[in-house]
Amino acid sequence: MECTFKLKPDIYFNMGSIQVLENITGSRAFIVSDSIMEKLGYLQKTIEHLNKAGISSTVFTGVRPDPGIEVIAEGMKLYEESGADVLVAIGGGSTIDTAKGIMYFSWHMGNTKNKGMKKPLFIAIPSTSGTGSEVTNFTVITSKGEKVCIVDDFVAPDMAILDSTCIQNVPQRVIADTGIDALVHAIESYVSIKATDFTDALCEKTIKLIFENLESLYQDAKNSDARDHVQNASCLAGIAFTNTGLGINHSLAHAMGGAFHIPHGRANAILLNPVIEYNAELLGSANTYAAKRYAKLARLLQLQARTYREGVVNLIGAIEKLERNLGVEKSVSSLKIEQDKFKTTMEQMAETALLDRCTPTNPRKPSKEDLIGIYQKIS
Ligand SMILES: NC(=O)c1ccc[n+]([C@@H]2O[C@H](COP(=O)([O-])OP(=O)(O)OC[C@H]3O[C@@H](n4cnc5c(N)ncnc54)[C@H](O)[C@@H]3O)[C@@H](O)[C@H]2O)c1
Ligand SMILES: [Zn+2]
Repeated sequence: MECTFKLKPDIYFNMGSIQVLENITGSRAFIVSDSIMEKLGYLQKTIEHLNKAGISSTVFTGVRPDPGIEVIAEGMKLYEESGADVLVAIGGGSTIDTAKGIMYFSWHMGNTKNKGMKKPLFIAIPSTSGTGSEVTNFTVITSKGEKVCIVDDFVAPDMAILDSTCIQNVPQRVIADTGIDALVHAIESYVSIKATDFTDALCEKTIKLIFENLESLYQDAKNSDARDHVQNASCLAGIAFTNTGLGINHSLAHAMGGAFHIPHGRANAILLNPVIEYNAELLGSANTYAAKRYAKLARLLQLQARTYREGVVNLIGAIEKLERNLGVEKSVSSLKIEQDKFKTTMEQMAETALLDRCTPTNPRKPSKEDLIGIYQKIS
């Protein structure tokens, strides 16, 4: 079977790499961001660097977490009026996904063509270390209480700038959520039915970097070494999963996020171990393709894995310990979500998750009842 490995953006990294903006070619930039980036001064810095390249800027700071279609429509109007030939997203996954949505819908609705605009140079500067959106062809948009994934190479950025000065002020809880999101990306990509040697290399490195650095970063956001490593890990995982797709951990998290506004990384974190148990068939033979792959990850982390079952159990134990140290809850009831409301929404969420773009690459084909079973475990 023919396989491909795609790597779209040029990646600039390390502290100070944002200066590369001074070397780009263009005349007008449209910058997508949020009020926090503005308050922290990152937005102004971006404008100044672009200015040095002779590029003027129009700014849109209307991004909100888990961007909805209304925010994208608002941004589209300003973007189309700006006539920009450079599109810059500076912020978390929600900001980068908003910029992708603006570009995607402006093009697909023909608005930009009518105005004679060209596809912009698209630059993504992440301010969180988790989604990997700066290198992926995914964008996640919330519409009518559901998170919808658009997967299209058209939205993949041309340039990704990983400047760790932009992630200096990330709150502790966001460090935990986004770091676990990167870990889930790597684990799901590793067990995906589309995993290859190329993506395995990226996932293995991501998982080691997260286990070695995330707790240190959580304890001290000023630890610049840990910050660089976690940010690189997030990007590596993004390159992996844009090639392999994800799995039901994300499908279930998307449905939960749409229905209950749980931060994306936190939903993924709570689901991670129950999903591993399910994929590995830990209550049955523990002899599946996924069990074998999880056991390989356990060995990578120097955990004992004389059998697949032992490897899976030890991997789950290591994740439990990491999540405990990062203050991750074990169930949604600890998130102040009414248990009764969660229970009555499970069936609908399972139906949504079954249709999610991430489900087809999961190593075990789930039924709706299987997905409800996983929700029951975390309720
Ligand atoms: N496109 C993809 O490939 C992909 C992959 C995974 C997740 N996602 C999506 O990304 C979104 C989540 O993104 P996220 O986890 O990065 O969180 P986020 O972008 O929603 O940001 C979370 C919060 O942190 C704040 N913040 C961001 N950077 C900061 C900084 N440097 N200092 C202080 N505060 C900062 C934001 O303002 C926001 O309030 C979800 O909608 C999720 O579905 C997309
Ligand atoms: Zn994710």
